[in-house]
Amino acid sequence: MRTLWIESLPALPPDPSNQYADDPRAVALGAKLFSDIRFSSNGEVSCANCHIASKDFQDGLQLAQGVGTTDRRTMPIAGTAYSPWLFWDGRKDSQWAQALGPLENPVEHGGTRTFYVKLILAHYKTEYEALFGTLPDFSDETRFPVPAAPIDDEVAAANWSGMSQEDREAVTLAYVNIGKAIAAFERTIMPRTSLFDLYVEAVLANDISAARDIFTADEEAGLKLFLNEANCTRCHNGPLLTDNDFHNTGVPAVADLPEDTGRARGAQQVLADEFNCLSKYSDAAPEDCKELRFMLVEGEELERAFKTPSLRDVANRAPFMHAGQFWTLDEVLMHYNHAPAAPDGHSELEMLHINKEQRDMIIAFLKTLSSIP
Ligand code: HEC
Ligand code: HEC
Repeated sequence: MRTLWIESLPALPPDPSNQYADDPRAVALGAKLFSDIRFSSNGEVSCANCHIASKDFQDGLQLAQGVGTTDRRTMPIAGTAYSPWLFWDGRKDSQWAQALGPLENPVEHGGTRTFYVKLILAHYKTEYEALFGTLPDFSDETRFPVPAAPIDDEVAAANWSGMSQEDREAVTLAYVNIGKAIAAFERTIMPRTSLFDLYVEAVLANDISAARDIFTADEEAGLKLFLNEANCTRCHNGPLLTDNDFHNTGVPAVADLPEDTGRARGAQQVLADEFNCLSKYSDAAPEDCKELRFMLVEGEELERAFKTPSLRDVANRAPFMHAGQFWTLDEVLMHYNHAPAAPDGHSELEMLHINKEQRDMIIAFLKTLSSIP
């Protein structure tokens, strides 16, 4: 139980791939960029549209809405600085590399890097230059056309290949710095103390009567089931209640959505990512990139494997799973109980044989993982 306690969370590990990760000026700039709707093709979308601070940085939707609709559910952000892999499939290996994904995703922010660096020049020049040094003059429309990026869009890709190698480098470097500032801000978003943490504290202090005041009998029984018979801690472990790894748990595919192979594709993508830990835009030395260098690249177990989500604050953020497949925690528990065969690959789950009363106990326990206001 001590291992699940929030006080067991180690000090935030450094991010060697981002030399600005702990610079307060980067945090301040990143916080502004995170909620600046000008950074989108329609002038209406910021990170904060989908990652809403008052909703645990989530949006309550099955599929996220940006300039279009995505194929997956929005993920919460608290504590992701501890995670070696980002996204449901882990196709990014740092928060800064992650942040550059939605900006150029056609259904999220829908813009391209030349557009974003021009916005920095127009609105954040002073703050940017204080941190990252002199910003090139990106205002020339012929040298720096919009849209332009090495992405799957005919016009943007053609404009991009028409630019000089030197100009492309300059744009990408400034674009990377946007990601590094946003990541510095995201590092400050941490989970908060829950009722469960107070309970653990009382138990560790051997104060049984205080512990009984904090947890009801059902919550206590739910915790025992979570740890023992239901063995949820096989994957939901550590103070964030995630092993930060990928598992196929047989979550059903959603009709109408393209096939989602999860980590099987995500592993290939992160290896090929122009912004990964080993890339020239990373500040890390190759020996700092152990996760990437020693990751599992292929294998049956990656098929439809998704990242184990943290269970902190989970009760407040239905719907659940990577495409919002379930609306209630009871549906989630029924899923674990039945352990259906996976649509592809093999589910790691085994049937649980827990009854309705036991499901309710586990749900009562899960609710104690919500932050105390
Ligand atoms: C249109 C809604 C939307 C917008 C806008 C958006 N996100 Fe997300 N975010 C998502 C979705 C959906 C996922 C999961 C996507 C996936 O796995 O493919 C996600 C995943 C993440 C994750 C991964 C968390 C984890 O545990 O792995 C982080 C961090 C994140 N977003 C930060 C950001 C930042 C920073 C921005 C702005 C630059 C942003 N998001 C913009 C919807 C959005
Ligand atoms: C084999 C690893 C594994 C085990 C065991 C496991 N989980 Fe999960 N859990 C996951 C993964 C992976 C997901 C995300 C799956 C997806 O979206 O496809 C998940 C998702 C969830 C979610 C939804 C969270 C969200 O934000 O969408 C809840 C709630 C949950 N698990 C609770 C439990 C409980 C309670 C148990 C024990 C009965 C349990 N899990 C056992 C790996 C596991």
